[in-house]
Amino acid sequence: MKLALTVNGARRDVDVPPNATLLSVLRDDLALTGTRYGCGRGQCGACFVIADGRAVASCLLTADQAARMEITTVEGLARGEDLHPVQRAFAEEDAMQCGYCTSGMLISAAALLARDPSPDEVAIRDALAGNLCRCGVYGRAVRAVQRAAS
Ligand code: FES
Ligand code: FES
Repeated sequence: MKLALTVNGARRDVDVPPNATLLSVLRDDLALTGTRYGCGRGQCGACFVIADGRAVASCLLTADQAARMEITTVEGLARGEDLHPVQRAFAEEDAMQCGYCTSGMLISAAALLARDPSPDEVAIRDALAGNLCRCGVYGRAVRAVQRAAS
């Protein structure tokens, strides 16, 4: 199935099996491996991307569905050498340990700040609620989003 995706502001033509997930296309066809495979069932947030402004699980979207959306992966957050504010803030707050969940958290944080530049703590926790972290960096992640917002 031939599809034209819009990923990180660029058109990407792919030829993939019907019902291929966006996650598999990003990782296996486009080599955008910052988007991680975790549960494959929409329950962990490791695979989150921004789709039309919302943080969504790319393991639950088909590539066909995604072809009608603007997709941003973690690789698309920085502008050249300039990291996105949430990327800088996560580094400054050491808001990661093994890092497996980090790209998904960055996506959720970036989507939040794009729609609400000054979120309160409840809004931040709500935005990160879909991102599971086996290392337990939740407190530092919240502080990082607060730092990025400020
Ligand atoms: S891999 Fe998609 S939510 Fe877990
Ligand atoms: S930093 Fe290890 S899973 Fe979150």
